[in-house]
Order: sequence, then structure tokens, then C-alpha cells
Amino acid sequence: MADTDSVKEAKNFYHDIPQKNEAFFLKGLNSYDFGMKNRMSKIFNPKSGHTVMLAIDHGYFQGPTTGLERIDINILPIIPYTDTLMLTRGILRSVIPPTYSNGIVMRASGGPSILKELSNEQIAVDIEDAIRMNVAAMAVQVFIGGEYESQSIHNLTRLVDAGIRYGIPTLAVTAVGKELNKDARYLRLACRICAELGATYVKTYYCTEGFETVTSSCPVPIVMAGGKKLPEKDALIMTYNAIDQGAAGVDMGRNIFQSDYPIAMISAVREIVHNGMKPDKALDLYNSLKKA
Ligand code: 5RP
Repeated sequence: MADTDSVKEAKNFYHDIPQKNEAFFLKGLNSYDFGMKNRMSKIFNPKSGHTVMLAIDHGYFQGPTTGLERIDINILPIIPYTDTLMLTRGILRSVIPPTYSNGIVMRASGGPSILKELSNEQIAVDIEDAIRMNVAAMAVQVFIGGEYESQSIHNLTRLVDAGIRYGIPTLAVTAVGKELNKDARYLRLACRICAELGATYVKTYYCTEGFETVTSSCPVPIVMAGGKKLPEKDALIMTYNAIDQGAAGVDMGRNIFQSDYPIAMISAVREIVHNGMKPDKALDLYNSLKKA
């Protein structure tokens, strides 16, 4: 029989203090359950509300692209500076130390290589493997206006359904084919379709005119893709502008890992994304760190 002699009678239930009911820090995600929000909090820093994701998934259609020839040598030294890694399950299993405890966003679509029609993707990961690998989100490419537009949207909605079943967010990546303009009108269309169809958050490109209309018309967070390698100064200006115009972070690849000084570059990007550093100061930081 349990010993009840020492149980104290006087208890304080603080009945005059209402229980706090705080809104989740990322827009549009309040109605999700704990698991989904907990995983999103592994991707986005709850203090700044922002994220620096390092995208290294390019090999899934490009093979060993410049800067990703040896992920163990080129990328592992950078990962302590990331909030989240975006990568394939192949690289995750074969190269990334399981001690990496920040968010993992697993590339979950694939199929064609650069030699074929890129929009002809299928879902390339079983939800069980995403769970087994303890990922924070799954990423799927969406080709609005592309040849296999509907198929790619179907990939998105199937992943969203599977993810919701287990509390795993889905990142919709708006792919921009060679023939498509990356203007605000197109990006608004693509991002909004992804959000309407259930994406937990959306990755898209920056456009110089009207990017704030892309972020404001998308009801869930947007992260900016880096795109092709730019001079560091230009990439830092683009990062600043994207955050200033409503992006909740970056999911950047080549502008970090193809930089001559990737750690200096990601450190400068972090200062902009998390602390609002102006681009000229961030460039000074990059230049000072590259000398160190
Ligand atoms: C491929 C992707 C890449 O992750 C994306 O392109 C980000 O990398 P980068 O900054 O090099 O463009 O989603 O479709």
C-alpha cells in the first residue's frame, strides 16, 4: 500500500492565474499538433524566428557538383554553423555524423537527372524511412508551369498527407525551369499554390521587384533559395533584402559551399538572418573571417 502519511494537504493551484496559451512563433502554423511544431522549432530558431539551412542535396539530380565532390571533406567542417541541413537520405546515412542534432530536411522527391526532363519527379522516400532517420521535415520539388506540373503537385499532396499522419512537416520547393521567369508574379503563383495544397513551409527564389508580395501572399513561412553562385557581396545583399522583405530564412547551397571561404560566408549570412546585420557590415565580417 502506498505511504500517504507524508502527503502535504496544502497545494497551490494558482487558480487566479490563467494558463498561458501562446501562439506559435511561425506564421500560419498555429493549428498544427505538437510534433509538427516541435520539428519546425528544430529548423527555425524560436528566438529570431529565422533559419539558416544549408542545401547540399544537389547530387540527387546533378551528381557530384562543384563543392560537393567530397561531402566528408568539403561540407562536414561547415555543419556546426548551420541551423538545418537539407540533403538526401543517401548522404545522411553515409556521411553525416548522427551526433548532428539540428534539423534535418530530407529530400523526398527525385527521379530524372540533368540529362532528362527534370519535372518528371516521383516521391523518392517512404515516410517510414523519414521517421527512422528522425528528420525534421521532408522536401519535395514542385514544378508550377512545368511539363509534369500536376504530377509534382500530386507528389506534394501525398507527402503532406503522410507527413501530417506522423507530425512531419513538408517543405515545398518551387522549381524554376530554364524557360520560366523568376518574377514576382510567377513566384506568388507558385508559393501560394504550394501553401494552399498543404506545404508547411515553402522554399523559393528571390526576385528584385516585388519579393515582399511573394512573402506576404504566402500564408506559411518562406525560405529563400540561394541560386547560382554570386560574388559574396551580392549574395549578402540578396540575403539581407530577402529577410527584410519577409523571408523567414535562407536555404542556401552554392553561395556558401562554392565560396572560397565557406565558413566565413555562412557566418556572415547567419549575422544577417538572425541579427539583422546590414550587408556592408556582413561583408566586412566575411573579409575579416576569411583572413583568420
Ligand atoms: C535543388 C534544390 C537545392 O537545394 C537548391 O537549389 C538550393 O541550393 P542553391 O542555393 O545552390 O540554389 O532545392 O532543386
